[in-house]
Formats: sequence, C-alpha cells, structure tokens
Amino acid sequence: MNTALEAVDLKRSYQLEGLSVEALRGVSLRIEPGEFVAIIGPSGSGKSTLMHLLGCLDRPTSGALRVNGVEMSGLSDTSLAELRNRTIGFVFQSFHLLGRTSALDNVALPLVYRGTGKAERRARARRALEAVGLGHRLDHRPSQMSGGEQQRVAIARALVGEPSVLLADEPTGNLDTRNGDEVMAILDRLNAESGVAIVLVTHEPEVAAHARRQIHVRDGLIELDTALGDGGGRSGEAGGSEVGPVDPRGPDEGELR
Ligand SMILES: Nc1ncnc2c1ncn2[C@@H]1O[C@H](COP(=O)(O)OP(=O)(O)O)[C@@H](O)[C@H]1O
Ligand SMILES: [Mg+2]
Repeated sequence: MNTALEAVDLKRSYQLEGLSVEALRGVSLRIEPGEFVAIIGPSGSGKSTLMHLLGCLDRPTSGALRVNGVEMSGLSDTSLAELRNRTIGFVFQSFHLLGRTSALDNVALPLVYRGTGKAERRARARRALEAVGLGHRLDHRPSQMSGGEQQRVAIARALVGEPSVLLADEPTGNLDTRNGDEVMAILDRLNAESGVAIVLVTHEPEVAAHARRQIHVRDGLIELDTALGDGGGRSGEAGGSEVGPVDPRGPDEGELR
C-alpha cells in the first residue's frame, strides 16, 4: 500500500505588509495507512499551516507532498480538488457546516462534487451519520444541535467519501470535556474499525494521548517525532530532529520502527 501522506522539506511563507513570515521552515514526515498521529505545539508554531498543506487546501512555497503516492505539485487546481475529495477528509475546530441545511444534506455534499447519484448519496450519508451515532438526527439542522453533535456531523461529512486520511485541526477545541471525550471515542473507533489514518492537532495532552504517535512542532519545524524513536532534546542541533523519517536508510534512522 502507498504511504498515505509523504511530505519532503515543506516550506510555506506568507507575505504580510512587505514582510515574509516563514510559517513552515522545512517539514518532512510520512503518514502510513491506518496511523493515528497527534500534532502538538504552541500557538503560532505552524500546525494549521501544516494541516492545510497535508490536506491539499493550500500549496507549499517549496517542497514536495505526495498523497497516496501522487505528487500534488504537478496537479492543476481542479485535479488537486478531485484528489482531495477522494482521499482526504478534513475536520475543523469550528465545524464549518451549513447551518440551515439538514445533517443528511451536509454529509452528502462531498458526494455531490463527485457526481454520485442522489439515492446513493443519501444512503451513504445516512450510514456515515449512523457510524457517528447520529442515525436519529438525519433531518436536524446544525443550528438545532449541540457542539458535540455538530462536530460528529462534520466527522461524518469528512468520512462519507471513504478517504484514506482524516485530518482534524483541534477537533475538540470548541467542545466541553464530555463532548470532547465523545468525539475522541468516535475517532478511536473509526481508526480501529475502518482503518482510516487520523492526524489531529491538539493543545490537550489527554487528547494527544489517544494517538499512537506524537509530532511536536515549534517555530515551523518538527522538534520531535515519536515515530523516529529519538530526537528528544535535540531541537537545537543543526540537522537534528527536524529531519523526518523520509528516507529509512538515512544514517540517523537506526531505531525507525
Ligand atoms: N494567512 C496568513 N497570512 C499571514 N500569516 C499567517 C497566515 N496564516 C498563518 N500565518 C502565520 O503563520 C504562523 C503559523 O500560523 P499557524 O499555522 O496558524 O499556527 P498554529 O496553528 O500552530 O497556531 C503564525 O506566525 C501566523 O501568524
Ligand atoms: Mg492553528
């Protein structure tokens, strides 16, 4: 099976009033099918920028990104949107649902862009909502739902197209503890049962503990990736831990699992 996501030396800078802000300064990582990864780091360290690149919602200033083995840089915007639609689901902190549209139609929307027929769209959207425990809320609008329910609708929408990777940027950030726990329980189960790889950003150690691998980001670089089995405490070294596990034959990767 192809590596789900492979980033090589990704950089992204933003131009602000004539100044260049380097949000990502060279990030390399691989996400394998079925992994569960937490990205952790201080505010402003580049986590959302990285997630938007991994999710093909944005293009890097330089560097390479392969999605299921397909290099994205050569793709037109239309082809990139198609690749994203088929392989990646994205969940946002603030849900990003259509507030006056039913849960079922919100979830079915990605299939509209794919040209799936109406009956099949509705059947698949219903199954996706059932999978997040909302089979009894198909006709409810997000504006009539709790935050936890809205995030579950957003997860169903992200998964309705059966992507290989689910990316979630602080999915519990707007939820209280109980709703956050419920959302995490659903992500645990989806990862275990459907094998979808999950990459989530969080500030909360209890949320990060759900993942089997932690990636710490600081100042636009990876300072620790637990998949490497080393790198702790080496963030200040030139050529140190920010080098991701891109080439398993590299000299520093003896403990790569
Ligand atoms: N659209 C943008 N335009 C200008 N600067 C941005 C933009 N998005 C992010 N940044 C800057 O890039 C850096 C990283 O931001 P971000 O990826 O949102 O960090 P995080 O998600 O870790 O809080 C910050 O300095 C932020 O101000
Ligand atoms: Mg962010």
